[in-house]
Amino acid sequence: MTTISPITADDRPAWDALWQGYLTFYESDVPAEVSESTFQRILADDHIHGALARDEQGHPIGLVHWLTHPATWTTKVYCYLEDLFVAPEARGQGVGESLIGHVRDWARVFGATKVYWLTADDNATARSLYDRVATSTGFVHYEIELQP
Ligand SMILES: CC(C)(COP(=O)(O)OP(=O)(O)OC[C@H]1O[C@@H](n2cnc3c(N)ncnc32)[C@H](O)[C@@H]1OP(=O)(O)O)[C@@H](O)C(=O)NCCC(=O)NCCS
Repeated sequence: MTTISPITADDRPAWDALWQGYLTFYESDVPAEVSESTFQRILADDHIHGALARDEQGHPIGLVHWLTHPATWTTKVYCYLEDLFVAPEARGQGVGESLIGHVRDWARVFGATKVYWLTADDNATARSLYDRVATSTGFVHYEIELQP
């Protein structure tokens, strides 16, 4: 059975493998100091939060990261689910859905009024899951890159 639990310092090698898998999926990379900072901020559980899905042996098979931010349309906060990744060999068994559910439950207790996330238009596998557990808003994402 899959369990979802906080990320601990001992999870660093397994988190690294999942994080790199996620970056590779997006044909991206980040400098080592960014990964180090991200991991430390998750451990501190301050602003950036994270959890791992683990298999029956406790081995990490998926990650999710999220954060909250104030918003003008509520006196409370919104919860942004930033990263979601499941190891290829563990996919199609509900792990991704469990990770999203974990963030939804956390956000509800925290007092956020919504959980939202972005995905690539052509990420059909992910969207199959998202269409089942969430509502597509139809918004289009724009950005202005300011720094490399
Ligand atoms: C998106 C992702 C997190 C889903 O994880 P998962 O554990 O497979 O999720 P679930 O098992 O809960 O649901 C997977 C969905 O894909 C479907 N699926 C179909 N074929 C599949 C396959 N070969 N492998 C995995 N999923 C498959 C499942 O049936 C399910 O669809 P459904 O909800 O309509 O039944 C995972 O595929 C992943 O890490 N992909 C690469 C990174 C990525 O796209 N992250 C999301 C960025 S926004």
